[in-house]
Amino acid sequence: MDQKQLEQEVNKRRTFAIISHPDAGKTTITEQMLYFGGVIRSAGTVKAKKSGQFATSDWMEIEKKRGISVTSSVMQFHYHDKDINILDTPGHEDFSEDTYRTLMAVDAAVMVIDSAKGIEPQTKKLFKVVKKRGIPIFTFMNKLDRDGRDPLDLIAELEELLNIEGCAMNWPIGMGKELKGLYDIRNNRLELYRKDGDDRFLPLNDEGKLAEHNPIEEDGVYDQALGEVDLIKEAGNEFDLKKVQEGNQTPVFFGSALTNFGVETFLNTFLDMAPAPTVHKQKDSDELVKPDDPEFSGFVFKIQANMNPNHRDRIAFVRICSGEFVRGMDVTLNRTGKVMRLNNATEFMSDQRETVKTAVAGDIVGLYDTGNFQIGDTIYSGKKSVQFEDLPQFTPEMFMEVQAKNVMKQKSFHKGMQQLVQEGAVQLYKKYTTNDYILGAVGQLQFEVFQFRMKNEYNCDVVMKPIGSRIARWVDPEQLDESMSSTRNMLVKDLDDKPLFLFENKFAENWFANKYPNVKLTSKL
Ligand code: G4P
Repeated sequence: MDQKQLEQEVNKRRTFAIISHPDAGKTTITEQMLYFGGVIRSAGTVKAKKSGQFATSDWMEIEKKRGISVTSSVMQFHYHDKDINILDTPGHEDFSEDTYRTLMAVDAAVMVIDSAKGIEPQTKKLFKVVKKRGIPIFTFMNKLDRDGRDPLDLIAELEELLNIEGCAMNWPIGMGKELKGLYDIRNNRLELYRKDGDDRFLPLNDEGKLAEHNPIEEDGVYDQALGEVDLIKEAGNEFDLKKVQEGNQTPVFFGSALTNFGVETFLNTFLDMAPAPTVHKQKDSDELVKPDDPEFSGFVFKIQANMNPNHRDRIAFVRICSGEFVRGMDVTLNRTGKVMRLNNATEFMSDQRETVKTAVAGDIVGLYDTGNFQIGDTIYSGKKSVQFEDLPQFTPEMFMEVQAKNVMKQKSFHKGMQQLVQEGAVQLYKKYTTNDYILGAVGQLQFEVFQFRMKNEYNCDVVMKPIGSRIARWVDPEQLDESMSSTRNMLVKDLDDKPLFLFENKFAENWFANKYPNVKLTSKL
């Protein structure tokens, strides 16, 4: 591919994640988008995902049982003139670490909000991460077919709780049983509810009134909507693409994912405004990596073992940041300096995986991994070293002692532990003196998934004994004396053999700090 083609290809890419509080409708809207992209033949079968059609591994049984989305996966499709990558993120807060890393690999985010509930806790948390990255965020107020909150209230709440300007792109005409349509401010037209085909769109004149008479005009909800639209046009935030692209203003769309109302207009408008892949910062350097740099570079943001139980494979998900990925190319793994040939790669066409043809900046490739990669690794072609910034790491708050139920299963126990820890599914520590294993996680569900996967994928029952919630603090080995350890501050070491204390509570930590004022404790490495 020559330079011009590379630029053109990169400019077609739109890579984004959909974030929401569980049950707001992320799966439903994703499915509608896949439907528009021609990836699936019918939408509206959300349950299909939950009942296994999209399931990529057995362990999603947990997801089925609990009705939550646990995995992050990647969906690629072509729509109009764009190549879209949707990175799915688990909604459940116990998996936020996985979600946060995924958000490092996207160029924009869609935030789905249940219009009856408004901003919920998980939305708020995820929003903060997106905001910190400074990427554009688009809001979809969902479930308009049900009675929800006053749209003006919803926007006010969004601005207040998330501290971002909201700018309405369309406005509901009625809601719930009274839902009649959407006043599409951006495209200056009405979109009627429960009508198929292009005649659902009615053009508006320069004054923002219907160009031709329609019975909807006799409906009280229409007048009310007109009044509110006038109000927001006058007193609301003015649309500012620059602000949107810097993440300081969010365009707000109303609609109903389930009844496929407003989704297509949302998708089209959103794709127009969302940025193509842009530059990436490097660690400890001012040099930026441009998406159309001819040399290939990318970083691993996720590793997942056993996506396909028949193959027992392990896949490293790489976000491409520059250049073109070509099968069989040689790349350098920055962390080790090792050169490796990338023969086995895959892209993600919804539920089936196909071998990659061309992939450029913005795309995600899955590399079959035999244990070379770690989350956060940078790979690059060419002579010039590239190292992207570190991915966020979370300090675990909950801990469990873990061992194999059957001592004869040590081999599979160690293999499973090693692989799942490399994936970042849980963190592993050892007791400082006895080397007993201790797992750390951000949420309880991570332990459950670990236990389930150890049994299902590695045929190893594990016994876990809760230690409860602890405060993890690293300590300089030079300052460490093992006698400092007690039951209230358990001494363990991490995978790099670095020592840390697990304090029972804040009180225990303060007590320690008073007793050993010269010992420096740090919450992260
Ligand atoms: P999630 O991925 O964000 O967790 O949400 P998901 O799409 O699975 O949607 C959660 C529930 O909300 C689903 O109901 C779905 O059908 C419903 N839903 C999504 N969008 C809309 C919408 O626009 N209008 C209405 N009325 N409902 C919507 P479910 O599978 O039946 O789950 P449940 O009701 O049994 O919990």
